[in-house]
This record gives sequence, structure tokens and C-alpha cells, in this order.
Amino acid sequence: MKLLKTILDVRNIVADGKRRGLTIGLVPTMGNLHQGHLELALKCRATVDILVASIFVNPMQFGENEDLDAYPRTLQADQKLLSDAGVDFLFAPANAEMYPENKSMQTSVEVSGLSTLHCGASRPGHFRGVATVVAKLFGIVSPDIAAFGKKDYQQIAVIRQMINDLSMSVNLLEVETVRSSKGLALSSRNGYLTEAENLIAPGLRTALLDAKSCIENGHTDFAELSRHHTKDLANRGFIPEYFVVCNRQTLLPAAATDDCLVILTAAKLGRARLIDNIEVF
Ligand code: PAJ
Repeated sequence: MKLLKTILDVRNIVADGKRRGLTIGLVPTMGNLHQGHLELALKCRATVDILVASIFVNPMQFGENEDLDAYPRTLQADQKLLSDAGVDFLFAPANAEMYPENKSMQTSVEVSGLSTLHCGASRPGHFRGVATVVAKLFGIVSPDIAAFGKKDYQQIAVIRQMINDLSMSVNLLEVETVRSSKGLALSSRNGYLTEAENLIAPGLRTALLDAKSCIENGHTDFAELSRHHTKDLANRGFIPEYFVVCNRQTLLPAAATDDCLVILTAAKLGRARLIDNIEVF
């Protein structure tokens, strides 16, 4: 695997591949890789000729009081993992390469509706940062296929909307959430959990499974279900942020008649903010 630091180097590799008729895959990440990220690489590897991964801790998607400085950076270990997963090129630019200080940016990508819901409500500007950096990465790599994890369900919805609205020629590869043996969705932020919190954390998944089975058993009062499970999360030791039964297409709160649902949840546990989701029907 070759490490690329500049946009120009990536463009040259991509242009050369395209000239030879090869397909390009992209796996965007912020590093500190775990099996969830590697699953994206493995799934994407199986569908393209040239596989590019990126590691960039994108300042634009972090709020002022968020963990940008504390976010774990483990480039050396990440390189080995990506190489073993069959990645051909790793694009790991410095901040100044993506956001040159002497050329202040005047353009951003705002997916206006979806970005205000759920995680967007407590993290204003977050999805603008995500959509903008992903659009930049698409502009740099011109991938035929880009892989994203369903753990970040709203993020995929935002990116899907952006691709459609801006007529981008990228196909999304959506990858199922990889979990610990206890059911906790793997996340770089799980490293913030203490030993005691690690025992509590899988409760987020338990609450989702329980709510799913309530709905499958005919429960249609979603507001009541949401209240009940929010209380349950608090009893388990979380500080719940939201627990909402949504329409899978719009991510708006679901009506009793909707038949493709997803339950989205976010909760704080100590220093970590955890998110998870489950599809129903
Ligand atoms: P990051 O949190 O590093 O995640 C990179 C990708 O890995 C995302 O598509 C995410 O959904 C996926 N992923 C994370 N944990 C996963 C798990 N347990 N199972 C399956 N996939 C998982 O998401 C971002 O970075 C950034 O917002 C990014 C898209 C790179 C833009 O900066």
C-alpha cells in the first residue's frame, strides 16, 4: 500500500487507473481504525480494481466543544491494518492540504432538511462538515464506489441525498454495522469508555432490540415507545439524547402506517457519545 499526502498525487494515480479502464473504490475514514472500518475496506475491495482509503480527522465536522484535539490519531497502526485489508492507496492529507489557510473556503455543502434532525440537532454544522469533506474527497478521488457504514445511519442518508441532489456519479456501498461480542457497535469513541461504562454500553443495543420486538408485536404508539426506552436508557446509566422510531426514507418520526422503519438513538455515557440504530421490517 502506498501512502499519498497530496491531492495531486491522488489525481495522478486515479487518472492513470481510469486511462487503463480500472474502477476506483473509496473508503473515507478519520482513522483509529477498528474492524468496522476494515469491513468497509474488505467489502469495497471485492467490487473495485483500485481501492483508496482516506484518513483525515476533519476539523469542519467537529463542534467547538467537541473532541477534535482528543480524537485518537494512530496512523502507523492504521496503515498496517489497511494494507492487510487490501487497500492499494492511503490518502492521509495534512489539514493545510484539504483546507489551505491562504485560500479561505467560500463553499460548503448543506443538505438542509436531513442535517437538522437527530444528531444534527445537537451537533449544529456537523453534517455540513461531513457533506463538504465527503464532496471534496469525491472530487479528489472520483470514485466509482464509496463505502460507508450503517452505524452512522443519518450520515449515509445525508450523503445519499447529496449524491442525488448534486448528480454525483458515485455509487454508495452501504455496509452493516460491526459489533463487539456483547452487541456494542464498534466505534473509535468507545476508547473513551471506562471499564464500568463498557459493561453498560451494550445496553444501547438491548434497548433497540427490545423496541424492535415491541413494534414487531404490533405496538404502534411510537411516541410512547420512545419515552419508555429513553427512560430505560437513563435507568441503565446513560444520558439519552434521542430514541426515535423513524421512516427509513425520510428519517422523520414514523407514522403508525409506515412500513419501513429504523429506530435511531444517541446517548452519552461518561466521556463518550454513542449512536446506534436498528431497522424494523
Ligand atoms: P469514521 O467515524 O472514521 O468512520 C468511517 C466509516 O466507517 C464511516 O462510513 C462509518 O459509518 C464506518 N464505521 C464506523 N464504525 C463502524 C462499524 N462499527 N461498523 C461498520 N461501519 C462502521 O464517519 C466518519 O469517519 C466521517 O464522518 C467521514 C465519513 C470519514 C467524513 O469525515
